[in-house]
Amino acid sequence: MTSPFTIAIDGPAGAGKGTLARRLADHYRLNLLDTGLTYRAVAHALLQVGLPLDNVSAAETAARQVDLTKLDRAVLSAHAVGEAASKVAVFPTVRRILVEKQRDFARTPPGAVLDGRDIGTVVCPDADIKLYVTASAEVRARRRLAEIESIGGTADFAEILADIVRRDERDMGRADSPLKPAAEAHLLDTSEMAIEAAFLAAMAVVDDVLARRNKA
Ligand code: C5P
Repeated sequence: MTSPFTIAIDGPAGAGKGTLARRLADHYRLNLLDTGLTYRAVAHALLQVGLPLDNVSAAETAARQVDLTKLDRAVLSAHAVGEAASKVAVFPTVRRILVEKQRDFARTPPGAVLDGRDIGTVVCPDADIKLYVTASAEVRARRRLAEIESIGGTADFAEILADIVRRDERDMGRADSPLKPAAEAHLLDTSEMAIEAAFLAAMAVVDDVLARRNKA
């Protein structure tokens, strides 16, 4: 891998793209960026000072201050922060500021795996590999519930499902950079597939591209 190699992974919340991105980055020794954390960082900054999520200029300022080396997953992974992130993510100016940072990251050797909603379509349209990872809303809700229960929590399945459907609608329905598969993306539906199988399928796609690259 001489020039920066890019793997773009998009898909809705809870489809397993984060785990897949981590596995691929480890296996191919690439840098890893969960771009959702950048939108979460903006939302978190506003929530912390009690500013409304539709305050565009405050969101722009927060976006400029996002430091990719200081994204704290423990703080940013809260469910409410994800919900808030999808609200600040509708603003084109906020997106432009974050997308620039994400592109700089992708350009850094040896390359990167980036996961999000618009990586293959907007952030890295020339990515070497584009994957679109999805699963039915019901399966994603069941996984989220199992996750919550595994750490001793309780939640209502119907509420989780409604949440997921609402977030999908916001992410797929926004005017700027809506969630959708890039034209040439490989589709991975993890509804009936364990993460290991998804990883093997993704690896086959990457290895195939690498083999053709090495021959060229
Ligand atoms: O992936 P995650 O759940 O952390 O993303 C939180 C929110 O950030 C998403 O629901 C989406 O609205 C937004 N996002 C985005 N573009 C990305 C990554 C995340 O709009 N590339």
